[in-house]
Amino acid sequence: MTYETILVETQGKVGLIRLNRPQVLNALNDQLMTELGEALVAFDADDNIGAMVITGSDKAFAAGADIGAMASFTYMDVYKSEYITRNWETIRNVRKPVIAAVRGFALGGGCELAMMTDFIICADTAKFGQPEIKLGIIPGAGGTQRLPRAISKAKAMDLCLTGRLMDAAEAERAGLVSRVVPADRCLDEALEAATIIAAYSNPSVMMAKESINRAFEGSLSEGMLFERRMFHSLFATEDQKEGMAAFVEKRKPNFSNK
Ligand code: CAA
Repeated sequence: MTYETILVETQGKVGLIRLNRPQVLNALNDQLMTELGEALVAFDADDNIGAMVITGSDKAFAAGADIGAMASFTYMDVYKSEYITRNWETIRNVRKPVIAAVRGFALGGGCELAMMTDFIICADTAKFGQPEIKLGIIPGAGGTQRLPRAISKAKAMDLCLTGRLMDAAEAERAGLVSRVVPADRCLDEALEAATIIAAYSNPSVMMAKESINRAFEGSLSEGMLFERRMFHSLFATEDQKEGMAAFVEKRKPNFSNK
């Protein structure tokens, strides 16, 4: 598959996707989001891939939805085409883990895209924000919903209402990102994390992801029940037998993803 707005490669069992519209700081247009979705779905279906990383450039993960492309849209254009949800939500259906390696700006849709991944590793140069208010709009890809869950109502209100940017240190304190590393380490750190994940038993990795995501959708008791059922079902896998046998026999496990 050839893409025009992203660069796709594999590194061992990790699928790496680089957003690649440098002339507009990786602004997210319809083509890019469609190609990103296609690449993620292809990696998800590939038995040789266990995790994915999405990154941008040193200057920008993504500076938001493409303002030039949106500027002349009417209400009917966006309403009828289900603009944003139509091809932005694909990432949520990907079952293998996806890590965002964020360097530079992750603004508007860029911040929302990073929040759609399973976790964010960012560079000390990263800047997050939802500056849509400055354009006379509001976030449209989950900013007002995922941000309060990821950080807090207070900080989400602050960012969305003032449009100010949050640096990497503040993002880590607020719990938006899992790690902050020097910029030249950011992509390697994410690839190393993805490599570690991809070496584990894929069914248990997918069930861990599914269970954690449940924590955001329903009640605690429903989430606990879901987790318990997932936990029980992993005892039906060959990898549970292998993983525990390897521990008892003091050797490395050899997972077969079965
Ligand atoms: N859409 C389209 N083009 C963009 C863009 C965007 N979101 N962000 C940057 N660009 C373009 C600029 O127009 C500029 O193009 P030219 O060279 O042709 O002029 C190029 O990228 C470089 O940008 P700047 O010259 O502005 O670079 P800078 O370093 O001075 O500033 C920035 C960087 C602070 C990120 C600034 O570009 C900026 O504020 N960008 C817009 C951020 C924004 O408002 N994002 C929200 C978009 S709306 C949205 O995302 C809705 C949603 O919820 C889905």
